[in-house]
Amino acid sequence: METTTRRIYIFDTTLRDGEQSPGVSLNVQEKLEIARQLARLKVDVIEAGFPIASRGDFEAVKAVAQEIEGPAIAALARVNERDIDRAWEAVKHAARPRLHVFIATSDIHMKHKLRMSREEVLEAIRRGVAYAKEHCPDVEFSPEDASRSDLEFLCLALQTAIEAGATVINIPDTVGYATPPEFGRLIAQIRQRVPNIEQAIISVHCHNDLGMAVANSLAAIENGADQVECTVNGIGERAGNTALEELVMALFTRRDYYGCRTGVVTEEIYRTSRLVSSLTGMPVQYNKAVVGKNAFAHESGIHQDGVLKERTTYEIMNPAMIGLVQSNIVLGKHSGRHALRSRLAELGYTLTEAELDKAFQRFKELADRKKEISDRDLEAIVEHEVRRIPEKYILDYLHISSGTRVVPTATVGLKVDGRVLEEAACGEGPVDAAFKAIDKITRIPVCLKSYSLNAVTGGKDAVGEVTVKVEYQGRIFIGRGISTDVLEASARAYINAVNKLVYEIGEENLQYLSEATNGGR
Ligand code: KIV
Ligand code: ZN
Repeated sequence: METTTRRIYIFDTTLRDGEQSPGVSLNVQEKLEIARQLARLKVDVIEAGFPIASRGDFEAVKAVAQEIEGPAIAALARVNERDIDRAWEAVKHAARPRLHVFIATSDIHMKHKLRMSREEVLEAIRRGVAYAKEHCPDVEFSPEDASRSDLEFLCLALQTAIEAGATVINIPDTVGYATPPEFGRLIAQIRQRVPNIEQAIISVHCHNDLGMAVANSLAAIENGADQVECTVNGIGERAGNTALEELVMALFTRRDYYGCRTGVVTEEIYRTSRLVSSLTGMPVQYNKAVVGKNAFAHESGIHQDGVLKERTTYEIMNPAMIGLVQSNIVLGKHSGRHALRSRLAELGYTLTEAELDKAFQRFKELADRKKEISDRDLEAIVEHEVRRIPEKYILDYLHISSGTRVVPTATVGLKVDGRVLEEAACGEGPVDAAFKAIDKITRIPVCLKSYSLNAVTGGKDAVGEVTVKVEYQGRIFIGRGISTDVLEASARAYINAVNKLVYEIGEENLQYLSEATNGGR
């Protein structure tokens, strides 16, 4: 096999463009947890957010910049001084900060959105990039909607940005309109036409509206792009962005063809995908390349026979390469704390003593109901039950009465500040009844926006994983819960969402329903 020397830089924008996915909202702790995992994955750059967009974004970028070592940390800003000041204020704490400034260059955006002439846009680029450069030596410039921009004007914009000090120029296919040959050609033309292009790294940022984001990024690499912007599981605006795991594994698996390498620790891919899916509440589709549940599953007898004889007959990637490891040790109700700790360590989770206590308690509860605890069950315990924010409400008990000819009724006991508060409610179904009973206790007026239930593993005793999204005063909070009993998992998920809301908004700022008006959701 050919030696691979050309290095492609991976710029991860899960925390910025990924977080712009409809219905996704991450708090500072969740962003930090993802950033820590991205550092273990060894991406080159983490774009932590768009600080001018909200106070939460600002705090998250600042926290990531202060804590995360290894990757450069980028903050996004439009090319105006206010945005840049705010972005710099947040990111300046990083060991290697980067300011990423952008403005649109397509006629359609300049005319209808910006209402600026070409000359005005060029001037804004000149001033904005130069201003960013006064703060930070590493400045990336993006001409938004580049793939639909007039080529001559685009090249002038890029030349201007590089003259003003940009060290990376990023070419976005903002609306996912380009095709691979076209996008590859665009990168080649930029390299030919922009006179000072050698002074900057060429980056690309592709959206997936037509399902071509990864293919477009690969075509760009073939034509000289050295940095690719991507997100874990391909999440992002609308149909999302280039999927990090697909791009990295394509470059690795076909290194004979591309002749490129990345610095990514591929064995961390699966864990990163799980973490992002769990914290964003965005499930990974079963047949998703690389990280989908079926990506290494063989259904046909002929395929199974082939794989058993020789794995490479039907597998072009070794699942171990992405960190999908099978263990021969089966954990069950007789397993002790030590066995749990070492299996979790093999799965990549290093827990504090307090976290291990919590994990062990939930593990024992689960093992009482389920004979064998799989790795996926353990991952679900850690991701959903252990790494949690402080809990105002803790499920003490849940009793449900439901059937074909009875009105579904739930009685719920919640531990609140050391006391158990109880309420009962009827509902459209048992889940609705449980949520209404919880609402009666919390008296917080939330609105359920979505509910999803998945089986973590197969079998009759499968663990059910419930994700809910609730809205409070226009903000979305995601909650998760697991149990072999789906009603209990539902109640746990709902309580988790309410706890997050209380934690983020602060008890003193909440507006409670009065007892008289608390009729449920
Ligand atoms: O899609 C896009 O154009 C962007 C830019 C801000 C890089 O996200
Ligand atoms: Zn984008």
